[in-house]
Amino acid sequence: MRSILVVNPKGGCGKTTIATNLATYYAVWNTSVALVDLDPQESTLQWLKVRPKSEPAIQGFNGLKGTIRPAEGTERIIYDAPARTDNVKLAKLIKMVDVVIIPVLPSAIDMRASARFVAEIVSKVKKNNSKALFGVVANRAQRHYKSYEVLQRFLRTLDIPTVGTLRNSQNYVKAADTGIGIFEMPLSEVGVDMREWTPLIHWLEGKSEEK
Ligand SMILES: Nc1ncnc2c1ncn2[C@@H]1O[C@H](COP(=O)(O)OP(=O)(O)O)[C@@H](O)[C@H]1O
Ligand SMILES: [Mg+2]
Repeated sequence: MRSILVVNPKGGCGKTTIATNLATYYAVWNTSVALVDLDPQESTLQWLKVRPKSEPAIQGFNGLKGTIRPAEGTERIIYDAPARTDNVKLAKLIKMVDVVIIPVLPSAIDMRASARFVAEIVSKVKKNNSKALFGVVANRAQRHYKSYEVLQRFLRTLDIPTVGTLRNSQNYVKAADTGIGIFEMPLSEVGVDMREWTPLIHWLEGKSEEK
């Protein structure tokens, strides 16, 4: 079972969006998947609550209460981290997982906070000898805006590679409201968004398989 942690201490950078949409990607491709909500706000669990029964099943666990016991044969487990994660907990989480995804928004405040976080994480990983793979996802990117250029420049300065770029799209907002992911929406509406996931999925499923 491959485990994936989506983490960044900044609230609103897209952790839940990436965790839930990734879960639907696996679910629609018949890969048994579990989502673990580590956030006291329980956004992921709420999303699962409104998820239509007609969509492929995704297991849900409250990572702060009770035990996480995925069904036998579960192939992917995705952890949705809270905004504030203390360093000890974070180190433990990172030790547990195979892959760490860090969403970053193209705002100056977010980039500064993310730079600090990435520096911390990188030093922690070195200290812990963690074997996890790390990747940054540029989220809510607006390619025609100046902020995108600034974001690109910033991302190149990080010690963690950028493994995906997702545009700012109302499709994510729509999906979140109804317990689905963009992979479960009509292709005519979400084609552009879906295609943007290809590099990230390849990185997750290809590169991480080499471990
Ligand atoms: N790529 C995107 N395009 C448009 N809205 C987005 C995108 N990513 C996230 N959002 C919206 O931003 C808000 C915060 O995202 P969320 O995933 O809840 O962040 P976090 O879990 O890091 O706090 C939500 O309303 C979500 O729908
Ligand atoms: Mg969240």
